[in-house]
Amino acid sequence: MNKKNVLPVDFMWGGATAANQYEGAWNVGGKKASTADVMTGGSHTTPRRITKHIEEGTYYPSHEAVDFYHHYKEDIKLFAEMGFKCFRMSIAWSRIFPNVDDKVANEEGLKFYDNVFSELKKYNIEPIVTISHYEAPFALTEKYNGWASREAIDHYVRYCNTLFKRYKDVVKYWITFNEINSLMVPAGAFIAGALLVDDSGIFNNITVDSSQMRFQALHHQLVASAKAVNIAHQINPDFKVGCMINYSLGYASTCNPKDIIKAQKQDQINNMICGDVHVRGEYPTFTKRYFEESNIKIEMAEGDEETLKNGCVDFYTFSYYKSHVVGTRPEGDVTQGNVFGGFKNPYLKANDWGWQIDPEGLRYVLNHVYDRYKIPMMVVENGLGAVDIVEKDGKINDDYRIKFLREHIEQMKEAVYDGVELIGYTPWGCIDIVSASTGEMKKRYGFIYVDKDNDGKGTLNRRKKKSFNWYQQVIATNGEEI
Ligand code: BG6
Repeated sequence: MNKKNVLPVDFMWGGATAANQYEGAWNVGGKKASTADVMTGGSHTTPRRITKHIEEGTYYPSHEAVDFYHHYKEDIKLFAEMGFKCFRMSIAWSRIFPNVDDKVANEEGLKFYDNVFSELKKYNIEPIVTISHYEAPFALTEKYNGWASREAIDHYVRYCNTLFKRYKDVVKYWITFNEINSLMVPAGAFIAGALLVDDSGIFNNITVDSSQMRFQALHHQLVASAKAVNIAHQINPDFKVGCMINYSLGYASTCNPKDIIKAQKQDQINNMICGDVHVRGEYPTFTKRYFEESNIKIEMAEGDEETLKNGCVDFYTFSYYKSHVVGTRPEGDVTQGNVFGGFKNPYLKANDWGWQIDPEGLRYVLNHVYDRYKIPMMVVENGLGAVDIVEKDGKINDDYRIKFLREHIEQMKEAVYDGVELIGYTPWGCIDIVSASTGEMKKRYGFIYVDKDNDGKGTLNRRKKKSFNWYQQVIATNGEEI
Protein backbone atom coordinates (compact mmCIF):
# COMPACT_ATOMS: atom_id res chain seq x y z
CA MET A 1 0.00 0.00 0.00
CA ASN A 2 1.22 3.50 -0.68
CA LYS A 3 -0.05 6.94 0.17
CA LYS A 4 -1.78 7.27 -3.17
CA ASN A 5 -4.42 4.63 -2.64
CA VAL A 6 -4.47 4.51 1.08
CA LEU A 7 -8.13 5.42 1.68
CA PRO A 8 -10.58 2.56 2.22
CA VAL A 9 -12.88 1.78 -0.73
CA ASP A 10 -15.95 2.62 1.30
CA PHE A 11 -14.55 5.96 2.47
CA MET A 12 -17.42 8.35 3.22
CA TRP A 13 -16.94 11.48 1.12
CA GLY A 14 -19.55 14.16 1.58
CA GLY A 15 -20.28 17.61 2.90
CA ALA A 16 -21.61 19.20 6.07
CA THR A 17 -24.26 21.76 7.01
CA ALA A 18 -26.41 22.74 9.99
CA ALA A 19 -30.13 23.47 10.06
CA ASN A 20 -29.87 26.89 11.70
CA GLN A 21 -27.44 28.14 9.05
CA TYR A 22 -29.02 26.44 6.06
CA GLU A 23 -32.74 25.72 6.31
CA GLY A 24 -34.44 29.07 6.82
CA ALA A 25 -38.26 28.78 7.12
CA TRP A 26 -37.74 29.72 10.74
CA ASN A 27 -41.46 30.04 11.52
CA VAL A 28 -42.92 27.72 8.89
CA GLY A 29 -44.62 24.35 9.43
CA GLY A 30 -45.11 24.80 13.15
CA LYS A 31 -41.52 25.78 13.87
CA LYS A 32 -40.86 28.50 16.41
CA ALA A 33 -37.80 30.60 17.20
CA SER A 34 -34.59 28.81 18.00
CA THR A 35 -31.59 30.28 19.80
CA ALA A 36 -30.04 31.01 16.39
CA ASP A 37 -33.17 32.90 15.33
CA VAL A 38 -32.61 35.65 17.88
CA MET A 39 -29.07 36.35 16.71
CA THR A 40 -28.58 39.33 14.43
CA GLY A 41 -26.20 39.58 11.52
CA GLY A 42 -22.68 40.78 12.28
CA SER A 43 -19.29 40.87 10.65
CA HIS A 44 -15.63 40.23 11.25
CA THR A 45 -15.49 43.46 13.26
CA THR A 46 -19.08 43.85 14.52
CA PRO A 47 -20.27 41.09 16.84
CA ARG A 48 -23.69 39.49 16.47
CA ARG A 49 -26.29 40.46 19.06
CA ILE A 50 -28.66 38.21 20.96
CA THR A 51 -31.96 40.10 21.08
CA LYS A 52 -34.05 37.85 23.38
CA HIS A 53 -37.08 38.49 21.23
CA ILE A 54 -37.54 39.11 17.52
CA GLU A 55 -37.13 42.85 16.90
CA GLU A 56 -39.09 44.28 14.04
CA GLY A 57 -36.85 45.68 11.32
CA THR A 58 -33.78 43.78 12.51
CA TYR A 59 -32.09 41.37 10.13
CA TYR A 60 -31.71 37.81 11.37
CA PRO A 61 -29.67 35.71 8.93
CA SER A 62 -31.09 32.37 10.04
CA HIS A 63 -34.69 33.29 9.27
CA GLU A 64 -34.33 32.59 5.61
CA ALA A 65 -30.70 31.39 5.55
CA VAL A 66 -30.38 29.88 2.06
CA ASP A 67 -33.74 28.19 2.26
CA PHE A 68 -32.84 24.52 2.12
CA TYR A 69 -36.38 24.01 3.39
CA HIS A 70 -37.72 24.80 -0.08
CA HIS A 71 -34.62 23.85 -2.10
CA TYR A 72 -33.74 20.47 -0.65
CA LYS A 73 -34.49 18.51 -3.82
CA GLU A 74 -32.35 20.77 -5.97
CA ASP A 75 -29.50 20.81 -3.45
CA ILE A 76 -29.45 17.07 -2.86
CA LYS A 77 -29.40 16.53 -6.62
CA LEU A 78 -26.28 18.69 -6.81
CA PHE A 79 -24.68 16.79 -3.94
CA ALA A 80 -25.42 13.56 -5.78
CA GLU A 81 -23.85 14.99 -8.92
CA MET A 82 -20.65 15.63 -6.95
CA GLY A 83 -20.78 11.97 -5.94
CA PHE A 84 -21.50 12.44 -2.23
CA LYS A 85 -21.57 9.17 -0.33
CA CYS A 86 -22.85 10.89 2.80
CA PHE A 87 -24.32 14.19 3.91
CA ARG A 88 -23.96 15.68 7.38
CA MET A 89 -26.97 17.76 8.32
CA SER A 90 -28.71 18.65 11.54
CA ILE A 91 -32.30 18.51 12.64
CA ALA A 92 -33.76 21.72 14.06
CA TRP A 93 -34.98 20.83 17.54
CA SER A 94 -37.25 23.88 17.32
CA ARG A 95 -38.98 22.28 14.33
CA ILE A 96 -39.78 19.13 16.31
CA PHE A 97 -40.50 20.55 19.77
CA PRO A 98 -41.09 24.26 19.09
CA ASN A 99 -41.91 25.05 22.73
CA VAL A 100 -39.38 22.52 24.02
CA ASP A 101 -41.91 20.95 26.43
CA ASP A 102 -44.67 20.20 23.89
CA LYS A 103 -46.61 17.10 24.78
CA VAL A 104 -46.49 15.84 21.21
CA ALA A 105 -43.83 16.27 18.55
CA ASN A 106 -44.65 18.54 15.63
CA GLU A 107 -45.68 16.19 12.83
CA GLU A 108 -45.04 18.72 10.08
CA GLY A 109 -41.47 19.13 11.26
CA LEU A 110 -40.91 15.37 11.34
CA LYS A 111 -42.42 15.06 7.88
CA PHE A 112 -39.95 17.58 6.46
CA TYR A 113 -37.06 15.36 7.50
CA ASP A 114 -38.87 12.25 6.19
CA ASN A 115 -38.79 13.99 2.83
CA VAL A 116 -35.16 14.98 3.09
CA PHE A 117 -34.11 11.45 4.05
CA SER A 118 -36.08 9.87 1.24
CA GLU A 119 -34.51 12.29 -1.24
CA LEU A 120 -31.06 11.32 0.04
CA LYS A 121 -31.95 7.66 -0.22
CA LYS A 122 -32.88 8.17 -3.86
CA TYR A 123 -29.21 8.91 -4.55
CA ASN A 124 -27.80 6.46 -2.01
CA ILE A 125 -26.44 9.26 0.14
CA GLU A 126 -26.05 8.24 3.77
CA PRO A 127 -27.29 10.88 6.20
CA ILE A 128 -25.11 11.76 9.18
CA VAL A 129 -27.42 13.59 11.54
CA THR A 130 -26.35 16.03 14.22
CA ILE A 131 -29.12 16.14 16.78
CA SER A 132 -28.22 19.52 18.21
CA HIS A 133 -26.05 21.85 16.17
CA TYR A 134 -25.74 25.30 17.77
CA GLU A 135 -29.53 25.34 17.98
CA ALA A 136 -32.22 24.72 20.59
CA PRO A 137 -35.77 25.99 20.87
CA PHE A 138 -35.42 29.50 22.27
CA ALA A 139 -38.07 28.38 24.74
CA LEU A 140 -35.32 26.30 26.39
CA THR A 141 -33.50 29.54 27.17
CA GLU A 142 -36.63 31.38 28.23
CA LYS A 143 -37.98 28.63 30.45
CA TYR A 144 -34.82 27.10 31.90
CA ASN A 145 -31.87 29.27 30.89
CA GLY A 146 -30.87 26.52 28.51
CA TRP A 147 -28.54 23.81 29.65
CA ALA A 148 -27.90 25.49 32.99
CA SER A 149 -30.92 23.57 34.14
CA ARG A 150 -30.91 19.81 34.60
CA GLU A 151 -34.39 19.72 33.10
CA ALA A 152 -32.83 20.25 29.70
CA ILE A 153 -31.62 16.64 29.86
CA ASP A 154 -35.12 15.16 29.86
CA HIS A 155 -36.30 17.43 27.08
CA TYR A 156 -33.31 16.51 24.94
CA VAL A 157 -33.69 12.80 25.63
CA ARG A 158 -37.37 12.94 24.67
CA TYR A 159 -36.39 14.70 21.46
CA CYS A 160 -33.76 12.02 20.73
CA ASN A 161 -36.22 9.25 21.46
CA THR A 162 -38.63 10.75 18.96
CA LEU A 163 -35.94 10.99 16.27
CA PHE A 164 -34.50 7.53 16.85
CA LYS A 165 -37.92 5.92 16.60
CA ARG A 166 -39.11 7.91 13.62
CA TYR A 167 -35.92 7.52 11.57
CA LYS A 168 -34.95 4.07 12.82
CA ASP A 169 -34.67 2.61 9.33
CA VAL A 170 -33.37 5.60 7.40
CA VAL A 171 -30.60 7.10 9.53
CA LYS A 172 -27.71 5.07 10.87
CA TYR A 173 -25.11 7.72 11.88
CA TRP A 174 -25.96 10.18 14.65
CA ILE A 175 -23.93 12.88 16.37
CA THR A 176 -25.32 13.99 19.73
CA PHE A 177 -24.00 17.57 20.03
CA ASN A 178 -22.05 19.75 17.65
CA GLU A 179 -18.74 20.97 19.10
CA ILE A 180 -19.80 20.21 22.65
CA ASN A 181 -16.49 21.57 23.98
CA SER A 182 -17.45 25.08 22.85
CA LEU A 183 -18.87 25.37 26.35
CA MET A 184 -15.29 25.53 27.63
CA VAL A 185 -15.17 29.17 26.60
CA PRO A 186 -17.53 32.14 27.04
CA ALA A 187 -18.23 32.41 23.30
CA GLY A 188 -19.89 29.00 23.46
CA ALA A 189 -22.35 29.88 26.24
CA PHE A 190 -25.30 30.87 24.08
CA ILE A 191 -24.61 29.16 20.77
CA ALA A 192 -23.75 25.79 22.31
CA GLY A 193 -25.47 25.96 25.70
CA ALA A 194 -28.50 28.21 25.06
CA LEU A 195 -27.30 30.10 28.15
CA LEU A 196 -27.77 33.76 28.81
CA VAL A 197 -25.03 34.67 31.24
CA ASP A 198 -25.29 38.46 31.24
CA ASP A 199 -27.32 41.28 29.76
CA SER A 200 -24.73 42.37 27.23
CA GLY A 201 -26.51 40.57 24.41
CA ILE A 202 -23.15 40.05 22.73
CA PHE A 203 -22.54 36.38 22.22
CA ASN A 204 -18.77 36.36 21.91
CA ASN A 205 -17.82 39.21 24.20
CA ILE A 206 -18.99 38.09 27.61
CA THR A 207 -17.17 39.77 30.45
CA VAL A 208 -18.73 38.16 33.54
CA ASP A 209 -17.23 34.90 34.77
CA SER A 210 -19.56 32.27 33.41
CA SER A 211 -17.37 29.23 33.93
CA GLN A 212 -19.39 27.65 36.76
CA MET A 213 -22.59 27.90 34.75
CA ARG A 214 -20.96 26.71 31.52
CA PHE A 215 -19.33 23.66 33.04
CA GLN A 216 -22.52 22.68 34.82
CA ALA A 217 -24.35 23.03 31.50
CA LEU A 218 -21.65 20.97 29.83
CA HIS A 219 -22.08 18.24 32.42
CA HIS A 220 -25.80 18.19 31.66
CA GLN A 221 -25.06 17.85 27.95
CA LEU A 222 -22.57 15.05 28.54
CA VAL A 223 -25.12 13.16 30.63
CA ALA A 224 -27.81 13.82 28.01
CA SER A 225 -25.47 12.58 25.27
CA ALA A 226 -24.69 9.38 27.17
CA LYS A 227 -28.38 8.73 27.74
CA ALA A 228 -29.03 9.29 24.05
CA VAL A 229 -26.29 6.83 23.04
CA ASN A 230 -27.77 4.25 25.31
CA ILE A 231 -31.30 4.68 24.02
CA ALA A 232 -30.10 4.74 20.43
CA HIS A 233 -28.44 1.36 20.82
CA GLN A 234 -31.57 -0.08 22.38
CA ILE A 235 -33.80 1.21 19.61
CA ASN A 236 -31.53 0.02 16.84
CA PRO A 237 -28.33 -1.89 17.66
CA ASP A 238 -27.00 -0.95 14.22
CA PHE A 239 -27.02 2.74 15.04
CA LYS A 240 -23.61 4.37 15.22
CA VAL A 241 -23.54 7.33 17.55
CA GLY A 242 -20.66 9.77 17.62
CA CYS A 243 -19.40 12.79 19.50
CA MET A 244 -18.20 16.00 17.90
CA ILE A 245 -15.29 18.06 19.19
CA ASN A 246 -14.19 21.48 17.96
CA TYR A 247 -10.54 20.56 17.92
CA SER A 248 -8.48 23.31 19.48
CA LEU A 249 -4.90 22.69 18.36
CA GLY A 250 -2.41 24.86 20.23
CA TYR A 251 1.33 24.43 19.66
CA ALA A 252 3.79 25.42 22.37
CA SER A 253 5.37 28.74 21.42
CA THR A 254 8.90 27.60 22.35
CA CYS A 255 10.64 24.47 23.62
CA ASN A 256 10.69 26.01 27.08
CA PRO A 257 9.20 23.19 29.21
CA LYS A 258 6.81 25.73 30.71
CA ASP A 259 5.35 26.35 27.26
CA ILE A 260 5.07 22.63 26.61
CA ILE A 261 3.13 22.15 29.84
CA LYS A 262 0.90 25.09 29.01
CA ALA A 263 0.07 23.67 25.59
CA GLN A 264 -0.50 20.22 27.09
CA LYS A 265 -2.84 21.63 29.73
CA GLN A 266 -4.83 23.50 27.12
CA ASP A 267 -5.16 20.35 25.03
CA GLN A 268 -6.33 18.39 28.07
CA ILE A 269 -8.92 20.98 29.05
CA ASN A 270 -10.20 22.12 25.67
CA ASN A 271 -10.24 18.77 23.91
CA MET A 272 -9.72 15.82 26.19
CA ILE A 273 -12.25 16.44 28.95
CA CYS A 274 -15.14 16.10 26.52
CA GLY A 275 -13.41 13.47 24.39
CA ASP A 276 -12.71 11.28 27.40
CA VAL A 277 -16.21 11.52 28.84
CA HIS A 278 -17.73 10.66 25.48
CA VAL A 279 -15.35 7.86 24.55
CA ARG A 280 -14.21 6.45 27.89
CA GLY A 281 -17.29 7.29 29.91
CA GLU A 282 -15.54 9.22 32.66
CA TYR A 283 -13.95 12.56 33.41
CA PRO A 284 -10.15 12.32 33.06
CA THR A 285 -8.09 12.59 36.24
CA PHE A 286 -6.70 16.04 35.38
CA THR A 287 -10.21 17.51 35.53
CA LYS A 288 -10.24 17.45 39.33
CA ARG A 289 -7.31 19.86 39.68
CA TYR A 290 -8.59 22.08 36.89
CA PHE A 291 -12.01 22.39 38.54
CA GLU A 292 -10.45 23.02 41.96
CA GLU A 293 -8.17 25.74 40.68
CA SER A 294 -10.93 27.35 38.63
CA ASN A 295 -13.41 27.23 41.46
CA ILE A 296 -15.84 25.07 39.52
CA LYS A 297 -18.07 22.66 41.41
CA ILE A 298 -20.07 20.28 39.30
CA GLU A 299 -23.29 19.10 40.81
CA MET A 300 -23.66 15.47 39.90
CA ALA A 301 -26.91 13.64 40.44
CA GLU A 302 -26.97 10.09 41.70
CA GLY A 303 -26.39 7.77 38.81
CA ASP A 304 -24.63 10.29 36.56
CA GLU A 305 -21.32 8.46 36.70
CA GLU A 306 -23.00 5.21 35.75
CA THR A 307 -24.92 6.92 32.96
CA LEU A 308 -21.68 8.27 31.49
CA LYS A 309 -20.09 4.83 31.70
CA ASN A 310 -23.02 3.25 29.88
CA GLY A 311 -23.21 5.76 27.07
CA CYS A 312 -19.85 5.66 25.31
CA VAL A 313 -19.86 6.72 21.66
CA ASP A 314 -19.07 4.48 18.69
CA PHE A 315 -16.98 6.94 16.73
CA TYR A 316 -15.19 10.23 17.19
CA THR A 317 -15.81 13.17 14.93
CA PHE A 318 -14.32 16.62 15.01
CA SER A 319 -14.05 19.90 13.20
CA TYR A 320 -10.69 21.20 12.14
CA TYR A 321 -10.07 24.59 10.56
CA LYS A 322 -6.98 26.09 12.11
CA SER A 323 -4.35 26.05 14.82
CA HIS A 324 -2.78 28.59 17.14
CA VAL A 325 0.14 29.02 19.51
CA VAL A 326 0.15 28.74 23.30
CA GLY A 327 2.92 29.95 25.55
CA THR A 328 4.07 31.66 28.70
CA ARG A 329 5.86 34.34 26.71
CA PRO A 330 4.08 34.30 23.38
CA GLU A 331 5.36 36.54 20.68
CA GLY A 332 3.13 38.24 18.19
CA ASP A 333 -0.58 38.97 18.01
CA VAL A 334 -3.69 37.07 18.72
CA THR A 335 -5.17 34.91 15.97
CA GLN A 336 -8.90 34.62 15.29
CA GLY A 337 -11.33 31.75 15.44
CA ASN A 338 -15.05 31.23 15.98
CA VAL A 339 -14.67 29.77 19.43
CA PHE A 340 -11.04 29.03 20.28
CA GLY A 341 -8.12 31.27 19.48
CA GLY A 342 -4.57 31.83 20.61
CA PHE A 343 -1.41 33.48 19.39
CA LYS A 344 -0.21 33.74 15.82
CA ASN A 345 2.16 31.22 14.35
CA PRO A 346 4.88 32.83 12.20
CA TYR A 347 5.03 29.73 9.99
CA LEU A 348 1.39 29.91 8.94
CA LYS A 349 -0.79 32.14 6.78
CA ALA A 350 -4.37 33.03 7.66
CA ASN A 351 -7.63 33.47 5.75
CA ASP A 352 -9.38 36.86 5.52
CA TRP A 353 -11.01 36.26 8.90
CA GLY A 354 -7.67 35.62 10.57
CA TRP A 355 -8.03 31.83 10.89
CA GLN A 356 -4.59 30.28 10.43
CA ILE A 357 -4.31 27.63 7.75
CA ASP A 358 -2.48 24.52 8.92
CA PRO A 359 -3.02 21.30 6.91
CA GLU A 360 -0.31 19.39 8.76
CA GLY A 361 -2.10 20.13 12.00
CA LEU A 362 -4.88 17.87 10.74
CA ARG A 363 -2.47 14.94 10.47
CA TYR A 364 -1.23 15.76 13.95
CA VAL A 365 -4.73 15.78 15.45
CA LEU A 366 -5.78 12.58 13.71
CA ASN A 367 -2.74 10.74 15.06
CA HIS A 368 -2.97 12.28 18.49
CA VAL A 369 -6.64 11.44 19.01
CA TYR A 370 -6.54 8.01 17.42
CA ASP A 371 -3.62 7.01 19.62
CA ARG A 372 -5.73 7.89 22.64
CA TYR A 373 -9.07 6.34 21.75
CA LYS A 374 -8.55 3.82 18.95
CA ILE A 375 -12.07 4.18 17.57
CA PRO A 376 -13.09 5.15 14.01
CA MET A 377 -12.73 8.84 13.26
CA MET A 378 -14.42 11.23 10.88
CA VAL A 379 -13.47 14.79 9.95
CA VAL A 380 -16.94 16.31 9.85
CA GLU A 381 -15.95 19.94 9.32
CA ASN A 382 -13.03 21.50 7.53
CA GLY A 383 -12.89 24.22 4.92
CA LEU A 384 -11.93 27.71 3.89
CA GLY A 385 -14.19 30.67 4.54
CA ALA A 386 -13.48 33.08 1.69
CA VAL A 387 -14.99 35.86 -0.40
CA ASP A 388 -15.91 34.48 -3.82
CA ILE A 389 -16.21 36.58 -6.95
CA VAL A 390 -18.67 35.76 -9.70
CA GLU A 391 -16.80 36.62 -12.92
CA LYS A 392 -18.47 38.30 -15.90
CA ASP A 393 -18.87 34.92 -17.57
CA GLY A 394 -20.64 33.61 -14.46
CA LYS A 395 -17.74 31.43 -13.34
CA ILE A 396 -16.41 31.28 -9.80
CA ASN A 397 -12.75 30.36 -9.86
CA ASP A 398 -12.13 29.36 -6.27
CA ASP A 399 -8.65 27.94 -6.73
CA TYR A 400 -7.76 29.05 -3.18
CA ARG A 401 -10.45 26.72 -1.83
CA ILE A 402 -9.25 23.82 -3.96
CA LYS A 403 -5.72 24.39 -2.67
CA PHE A 404 -6.90 24.47 0.94
CA LEU A 405 -8.92 21.26 0.64
CA ARG A 406 -6.27 19.47 -1.44
CA GLU A 407 -3.63 20.15 1.19
CA HIS A 408 -5.89 18.91 3.97
CA ILE A 409 -6.84 15.75 2.07
CA GLU A 410 -3.15 15.07 1.49
CA GLN A 411 -2.60 15.21 5.23
CA MET A 412 -5.59 12.96 5.88
CA LYS A 413 -3.98 10.41 3.61
CA GLU A 414 -0.71 10.76 5.49
CA ALA A 415 -2.59 10.09 8.71
CA VAL A 416 -4.32 7.03 7.29
CA TYR A 417 -0.93 5.78 6.12
CA ASP A 418 0.25 6.43 9.69
CA GLY A 419 -2.41 3.94 10.81
CA VAL A 420 -5.38 6.12 11.74
CA GLU A 421 -8.81 4.61 11.14
CA LEU A 422 -10.42 7.49 9.29
CA ILE A 423 -13.81 6.62 7.82
CA GLY A 424 -15.09 9.86 6.35
CA TYR A 425 -14.64 13.48 5.39
CA THR A 426 -17.42 16.06 5.15
CA PRO A 427 -16.06 19.54 4.33
CA TRP A 428 -18.00 22.33 5.97
CA GLY A 429 -20.63 24.37 4.19
CA CYS A 430 -20.55 22.24 1.03
CA ILE A 431 -23.07 24.78 -0.22
CA ASP A 432 -22.77 28.44 0.87
CA ILE A 433 -24.61 29.00 4.14
CA VAL A 434 -24.71 31.61 6.93
CA SER A 435 -21.54 31.93 8.99
CA ALA A 436 -22.03 30.89 12.62
CA SER A 437 -19.58 33.33 14.14
CA THR A 438 -20.40 36.45 12.14
CA GLY A 439 -23.79 35.77 10.57
CA GLU A 440 -22.36 36.79 7.20
CA MET A 441 -23.07 35.27 3.80
CA LYS A 442 -19.92 36.61 2.24
CA LYS A 443 -17.83 34.18 4.28
CA ARG A 444 -18.37 31.29 1.92
CA TYR A 445 -17.21 27.69 2.16
CA GLY A 446 -19.23 25.96 -0.54
CA PHE A 447 -18.66 24.04 -3.74
CA ILE A 448 -22.02 25.57 -4.68
CA TYR A 449 -22.50 29.31 -4.71
CA VAL A 450 -25.79 30.75 -3.43
CA ASP A 451 -26.81 34.18 -4.66
CA LYS A 452 -27.42 36.03 -1.43
CA ASP A 453 -25.56 38.84 0.31
CA ASN A 454 -24.94 39.97 3.87
CA ASP A 455 -28.11 42.07 3.91
CA GLY A 456 -30.25 39.14 2.87
CA LYS A 457 -30.66 40.20 -0.74
CA GLY A 458 -30.33 37.81 -3.66
CA THR A 459 -32.20 35.32 -5.81
CA LEU A 460 -31.05 32.25 -3.85
CA ASN A 461 -30.03 30.73 -7.17
CA ARG A 462 -27.46 27.98 -6.95
CA ARG A 463 -24.34 27.96 -9.14
CA LYS A 464 -21.45 25.50 -9.33
CA LYS A 465 -18.00 26.81 -8.44
CA LYS A 466 -14.78 25.52 -9.96
CA SER A 467 -14.29 23.45 -6.80
CA PHE A 468 -17.51 21.56 -7.60
CA ASN A 469 -15.91 19.68 -10.50
CA TRP A 470 -12.69 19.32 -8.62
CA TYR A 471 -14.40 17.65 -5.63
CA GLN A 472 -16.39 15.46 -7.99
CA GLN A 473 -13.12 14.11 -9.35
CA VAL A 474 -11.65 13.68 -5.87
CA ILE A 475 -14.61 11.51 -4.90
CA ALA A 476 -14.66 9.60 -8.18
CA THR A 477 -11.01 8.61 -7.73
CA ASN A 478 -11.43 8.00 -3.99
CA GLY A 479 -8.95 10.75 -3.25
CA GLU A 480 -6.26 9.68 -5.70
CA GLU A 481 -6.62 12.61 -8.06
CA ILE A 482 -6.63 15.68 -5.94
C1 BG6 B 1 -17.89 25.30 13.30
C2 BG6 B 1 -19.38 25.20 13.50
O1 BG6 B 1 -17.28 25.68 14.46
O2 BG6 B 1 -17.41 26.25 12.41
C3 BG6 B 1 -20.20 25.65 12.29
O3 BG6 B 1 -19.76 23.91 13.84
C4 BG6 B 1 -19.58 26.88 11.71
O4 BG6 B 1 -21.52 25.81 12.68
C5 BG6 B 1 -18.16 26.55 11.25
O5 BG6 B 1 -20.30 27.46 10.68
C6 BG6 B 1 -17.45 27.67 10.54
O6 BG6 B 1 -17.49 28.81 11.31
P1 BG6 B 1 -18.01 30.17 10.70
O7 BG6 B 1 -18.07 31.08 11.84
O8 BG6 B 1 -17.01 30.56 9.69
O9 BG6 B 1 -19.34 29.88 10.10
